[in-house]
Amino acid sequence: MDKFVINGGKRLFGEIEVSGSKNAALALIFASLAIEGKTVLFGVPDIGDVRVALDMIKSLGANVELEGGRLEIDSTDLKYSPPDPALASKIRASTYLLGASLARFGSFELTTFGGCSFSSRPIDLHISAAEALGATMSESTLFAHHLHGGKISLAKSSVGTTVNSIIMATRATGTTEIYGFAKEPHVLTVISFFRAAGADISIESEKITVRPKPLHSLCFKVIGDMIEAGTYIVFALITGGAVNIKGVRTEELSSFLSIIREMGYTLNVGKSTVFALAEKAVANNDPICVNALPYPGFPTDLQPLIAPLLASSLGGTITDSVWQGRFGYLDALAKFGITSTRSGGSVLINRGIDRPASVDAPDLRGGAACIAAALSVRGVSEIYSTSIVFRGYEDIIEKLTSLGADIKLIQC
Ligand code: EPU
Repeated sequence: MDKFVINGGKRLFGEIEVSGSKNAALALIFASLAIEGKTVLFGVPDIGDVRVALDMIKSLGANVELEGGRLEIDSTDLKYSPPDPALASKIRASTYLLGASLARFGSFELTTFGGCSFSSRPIDLHISAAEALGATMSESTLFAHHLHGGKISLAKSSVGTTVNSIIMATRATGTTEIYGFAKEPHVLTVISFFRAAGADISIESEKITVRPKPLHSLCFKVIGDMIEAGTYIVFALITGGAVNIKGVRTEELSSFLSIIREMGYTLNVGKSTVFALAEKAVANNDPICVNALPYPGFPTDLQPLIAPLLASSLGGTITDSVWQGRFGYLDALAKFGITSTRSGGSVLINRGIDRPASVDAPDLRGGAACIAAALSVRGVSEIYSTSIVFRGYEDIIEKLTSLGADIKLIQC
């Protein structure tokens, strides 16, 4: 076991480049199974979730090499085997095996899918999408001798189900239409990926249409991680510092950046850079209300990060309309003196954050929120369960240290 030891209260200054997007890379790793050939991905982050995903596809026979962000996957010769529950229960992206296995092998045995346990995480939409393309369920295994095109209507915007629907549709016979799809940047990346592999996919405002075509080998670059970018903006502002963040398509962060501006902070935003300065450009005494929504709304994955930043300024209210129960991290933040009141589906974050603390990282983004709190207060904080944070943040110690933070990884 190890812990982050953070001697907080130091302003962060400098520049970092974000890594490739975790959630895009994970989707592309599983999407590559639909291609009988080689996929080369650039900008793949070396993080815990990616390593688990690679172990999962290796168990199906994929040859995999990851070095310096270049990931080569050869999916020419694969053989179906049921997912290893020990791996599948570690990451949520294991749900992508459902789509990839049905597309490639015509069968998939359901298992326990993992990921942060901040809310109930059903898979009913994934199963309905598979059934719409001809799969049938028998004793917790989905079968499809061959997937056919069809109409998938998602009752709720779901990133995972949209990606799975696209993966299955690329190898179905006939045209598939997907309605009610999620529009997150990593979903659009999966579409670009398949187009680059030869698929015929069109997007209208309410419908994705997939007309299957033979898929071929390809090279593809993973987009920068917008959630990592938002995380470092919070780290900069909460410490009273000034940081330039490179490598993110800033238009994807618009709703997050609007809230940061509403809080009064100074931002200088380019196409792929954000300079975040803790100086207040405008004095704002109005209460801040954050509502996490599907893209292009405020990203749910930055909702836990905004909580300590609200506490360090004027306070505010947070609602999460994607994951209604995603407030478990507040118990850990309370140890830093952040008080909050839950009311219905919202929480009121009070002003104030006043002491270092020893906490367990509650989940990936909650762990990052604890790091933000620890960076902002004077004194030594300890954050345990570091592997949860390493699941999603590449080189976090190196990046924070380069900005002037005093953070160490200590074995205990
Ligand atoms: N939902 C259902 N049924 C389903 C699937 C989803 O009701 O079959 C509901 C969920 O309960 C939730 C909503 O739909 O209320 C959205 O879930 P979605 O399917 O979009 O989430 P996901 O694909 O499981 C991905 C990210 C999450 C991110 C969400 C929302 C990956 C690997 N995970 O999860 O990322 O919060 O989309 O944007 O891409 C993170 O990175 O920290 C993280 C949790």
